[in-house]
Amino acid sequence: MVMSDRLSQIPDSYFGKTMGQKVEHGPLPLINMAVGIPDGATPNGILECFSKALHIPENQKYVAFHGKDSFKQAIVDFYQRQYQVELDKEDEVCILYGTKNGLVNLPQCIVNPDEYVLLPNPGYTDYLAGVKLADAIPKPLALNSPDYLPEWDKIEQSVLDNTKLIYLTYPNNPTGSVATSDVFDEAIQRFNGTKTKIVHDFAYSAFGFDQKNPSILQAPNSKNVAIEVFSLSKGYNMSGFRVGFAVGNKDVIQALKKFQTHTHAGMFGALQDAATYALNHYDTFLEEQSDTFKRRRDVFEAKLSDKNIPFEPMKGGIFLWLATPKGYDGEAFVEYLLAEKSILAAPGIPFGDRGRNYVRISLALDDEQLLEAANRLQSLSYLYN
Ligand SMILES: Cc1ncc(COP(=O)(O)O)c(C=O)c1O
Repeated sequence: MVMSDRLSQIPDSYFGKTMGQKVEHGPLPLINMAVGIPDGATPNGILECFSKALHIPENQKYVAFHGKDSFKQAIVDFYQRQYQVELDKEDEVCILYGTKNGLVNLPQCIVNPDEYVLLPNPGYTDYLAGVKLADAIPKPLALNSPDYLPEWDKIEQSVLDNTKLIYLTYPNNPTGSVATSDVFDEAIQRFNGTKTKIVHDFAYSAFGFDQKNPSILQAPNSKNVAIEVFSLSKGYNMSGFRVGFAVGNKDVIQALKKFQTHTHAGMFGALQDAATYALNHYDTFLEEQSDTFKRRRDVFEAKLSDKNIPFEPMKGGIFLWLATPKGYDGEAFVEYLLAEKSILAAPGIPFGDRGRNYVRISLALDDEQLLEAANRLQSLSYLYN
C-alpha cells in the first residue's frame, strides 16, 4: 500500500467525503441543513480592501513568515477591545492558514507519542486526525446533555496525569451549548501548574444569544495554560479566505510558529490586509450576525416546542442538536429526512459515539427556507410523541 500506516489508520473525513456530493432526495425541493457556515456574503468593505491589496507589489512576494505587523496589531487591538485581554504581538500571537490547519497541526507541535489528548465527545470531527498524526492517544471528554460542559471530576486522575492537551470549543459545534466564564476559570485553575495545556477553539465566537461569549483568556492565569484559536470564517463570512489566528500561552505559540516556518512561507499579504481590515472595522457586523441567528433560533425552537419535538437548547453557534425519534439512529434519521422531507441534515455519529442518536441541523438558511424546514419537521412530530 502506498499510503503510510499512520495515515491509513485515520478515518476518512466525513465532511471531506460528503461535501459537494450529489444528494438523492424525495419529491420536495431540497433544503440543505448540513452546511457549516453562515449563509451571508463577505462584507463589501473587506472585499474592496482585498482587491486593492492585490495590486500592492509587496503583497505579490513572500512576506514576513510570522505575519505583517499591521495584522498582528489588529489582532491585539481586537482582543483588547472585545475581551479586555492584553496580548504581546510577537510572543502571544500566531497567524493561522485557516484554523482547521492550526487545530490539526497542534498535537504535532506540543504532544509526544503516547501522551493523551482529551477530545470532546460529541465534538468537532477534525481534532482526531491531528492527534493520530502526532502518534498521540485520543481520550474522550464526555459532554452531557443539556449543557455539554466538561466534568473534570468524572475523569480518572491517571488519565489526566498523562494528558498533554485538551480541546474545548464554545459555542459548541455540534450541540449549540455555550460556556460561562466560570467554566473557563475552573478549567484553568484545574490545570495551572500541570503539564496539560488547553486549546479553546473559538470558531463561533460571534454567535452568543443570551450572553456575549467569553474568551478563555479572560480567566485568571489563563496564559499559563491555554491558547485560543479564533477564526474569521464564520463571524465575517470569510470561510473561503482561510484565515485565523491563535493567541495565548507563549510556549505553545512558539511551537506553532516553529512548525509553520517549516510548512508555510508566510501568508498571502493581500489576505492579511483583508483580515486586518475585517478585525479593525466590523465589530458591529459580528453583532448583527449573532442577532440574525438568535432570531432564527427563536423561531425554529418555538416551532419545535409547539409540537413537543425535543431538542437541546441552542445558546450559541449556528447549529441545533436534535435528538432522533425512537427507532432511528442519526444516520437512519438523516436518510428518512431526505427521503420523506427532502431535508439534508448531518448525522451525529461523525462527532463521536455520544452523537449516535442525534442529527445536527444548521440554521444557516434564509427565513423562508427555515420556516419551510420547521414546518416539514413539525409534520414529523408523531414520530416523537
Ligand atoms: C468547531 C470548528 N472549529 C474549527 C473550524 C474550522 O474553521 P476554519 O478552518 O474555516 O477557520 C470549524 C469549521 O467548520 C468548526 O466548526
